[in-house]
Amino acid sequence: MISTNIPVIAIDGPSGAGKGAICCRLAKQLGWHTLDSGAIYRVLALAAHHNKVSLEDETALATLAINLKVHFYPLPDLSGTQIILEGQDVSFSLRSESCGAAASQIATSPAVRQALLGRQRAFRTAPGLVADGRDMGTVVFPEAPIKIFLTASIEERAQRRYKQLINIGIDAKLSNLAIEIAERDKRDSTRTIAPLIAAADAYVIDTTGMSIEKVVARVSSIVQGLNVTLN
Ligand code: DC
Repeated sequence: MISTNIPVIAIDGPSGAGKGAICCRLAKQLGWHTLDSGAIYRVLALAAHHNKVSLEDETALATLAINLKVHFYPLPDLSGTQIILEGQDVSFSLRSESCGAAASQIATSPAVRQALLGRQRAFRTAPGLVADGRDMGTVVFPEAPIKIFLTASIEERAQRRYKQLINIGIDAKLSNLAIEIAERDKRDSTRTIAPLIAAADAYVIDTTGMSIEKVVARVSSIVQGLNVTLN
C-alpha cells in the first residue's frame, strides 16, 4: 500500500530542461528520495533491445515492463543514481541519445505507461519524494502539493545536453542534438496519452539563461512560499 500522505514535489518539462539536476539538488537539500522517471522508460527501452523485443510490440513491452528486474541506488554524493538492470550496471549506457529516442518511442504506448505506473508510485516513501519526468504532476502524482514545470529554449537545452554527454564521455554533435531534442519534444507533447504538458496548478519556470543554482533557489523559494506541510 502506497501512502498518499507522503509529500511529493513533481518536476516536469521537456528534454534538457535541467529537471534531473534540479531534482537531485532539491532532494539533497530536503533529505528526500528521488525518482528519475525517464530512466525507467530508458531502462525498458534497453531491456527491449537486450531481449530482442520490437519497440512496436506493445504487449511484449508491457510484459517486459512488469517483469523488469531493475534497482536504483543513490550515489554516495546524491548527485545521481546507479541503475542495475538484471545485475548489470546500465547507468552509463542509458544516457545515450539513441536510448532516449527509443524511450520516447515506447512511452507513446498506453499499455507501457500503465505497466510502469505502480513502479513509479512505489518510489513515494518517507520522508518525501522529488520526482522528475513528463507526467509527474498530471498523471503519476496528480495530488502532489508542489508542481514545477521547467522549460528552456531548444538551443540552450541542446547546449546543456551536449555538455552533459561530453562530461560523461559520450560523443555528441550539437547540431544533431538540437534536431533530436526537437523531435523528442514533438513526440512527447503530441502523444495521445499523458502528453508532456504543464499541470494547471504547476509553477512554470523558463530557465533559459539561468544557472542550476538560480533555478534551485527559485524552486526552493516556491516550496517555502507555498507553506504546505512537507513533513
Ligand atoms: O527524461 P528523459 O530524457 O530521460 O526521458 C526519456 C523519454 O522517456 C522521454 O523522451 C519521454 C519518456 N518519458 C515519459 O514519457 N514520461 C516520463 N514521466 C518520463 C520520460
